Amino acid sequence: MPRLNDLAGAGPASNARAILLRLGAIGGLVAGLAGTFAYAGGWLSPGALTQARIVDHFERVNGPHPGFRRNHAKGLCLAGRFESSGQGERLSRASLFAAGHVTPVTGRIALAGGQPYAADASTTVRSLALRFHLPDGEEWRTGTNDIPVFPVRDPAAFDAQLRAAKPDPATGKPDPEALKAFFAAHPESAKAASLIKARTITSGFADDTFRSLNAFRLVARDGTTTPVRWAFVPEQAATAQSPAQGARPDTNFLFDDFAAAVRRASVRWHLVVTLGAPDDPTADATRPWPAERPSLNVGTVIVAETAAEADGNCRDVNFDPLVLPAGLAGSDDPLLSARSAAYAQSFTRRAGEPKAPSAVHDTPASGAGL
Ligand code: HEM
Repeated sequence: MPRLNDLAGAGPASNARAILLRLGAIGGLVAGLAGTFAYAGGWLSPGALTQARIVDHFERVNGPHPGFRRNHAKGLCLAGRFESSGQGERLSRASLFAAGHVTPVTGRIALAGGQPYAADASTTVRSLALRFHLPDGEEWRTGTNDIPVFPVRDPAAFDAQLRAAKPDPATGKPDPEALKAFFAAHPESAKAASLIKARTITSGFADDTFRSLNAFRLVARDGTTTPVRWAFVPEQAATAQSPAQGARPDTNFLFDDFAAAVRRASVRWHLVVTLGAPDDPTADATRPWPAERPSLNVGTVIVAETAAEADGNCRDVNFDPLVLPAGLAGSDDPLLSARSAAYAQSFTRRAGEPKAPSAVHDTPASGAGL
């Protein structure tokens, strides 16, 4: 028969034992948490590929530029709205796709690379990042590039590419042998590089097409999902960039032209969603989907204002591709979680640093509210 004291655990000795047990449990919990942080921070595996290592790479290649994004460092903020065509309503329950809905949009155009003061150049990859402000605080953030496919298919290949493309201090250029070895080990990247090289370079941001490259999923009201990739396709006809334009001496010509176009009239892109077939690759952004896949024009993005990056506007945002409203979901593409982690790392570093004005600062701001 157990005695009353055993059941209640009330004696001085059992009290001390209980306190020790509790302290032990708390100690175990703290050690577990510390271990989790160390694991997440990559401190337990210094050779492992982590978001910190990727962002360190960007910093090594580009030099220190406190306060700026570690990639896509040179940019300009924008604002406007999205007008839904209603064509996406059947496939996604996101409110922004409901027929007739108008959703406020803010965003940023930028040039790829970690140099915030680099002169605009024709061949630099351009980007369009948008943030759709849905009711009740819901958001959709999407970053898109003006290339047909992404050069690598997973974070390890991204890391290998950064290493291979690192400029040799003696020549200031990447080592051709290292690049050759990278492409030999990554034939999918060699194919993607030739598609990227063959793209038409348009006269500016306003007549350029920007693509999600990664695959996502639309989620309908009944839970049905459809694999998709999307593109912002300019309403104005695309014009190829002329050699004279590419040789302009003004260092911000692409950004200044865009701000001027927005001041003249709004700049518009159609949001075109391509519907993937069951066999289309959703986990490999180096591979295009067949051109005959059906697509829907789900609405129009109308940019009405631009403003230089400043306190509290698009400068202080992280366009994490996994910030999605109900009705949109990620895919099995390994680049998505890698992007999410790397952008958070870049954001955390830059948020804590002193800020310098953007190179794109003399653009007359039309957007006091941006
Ligand atoms: C593993 C692959 C990738 C890595 C490590 C990476 C890294 C980065 C980093 C560190 C930033 C700066 C983030 C910030 O401070 O806010 C950035 C910005 C950006 N990235 Fe990526 N990226 C990757 C893949 C992609 C892909 C596939 C796209 C597809 C379109 C993309 C589009 C963009 C855009 C548009 C921005 C600029 C967003 C803005 O204006 O703030 N990136 N990237």
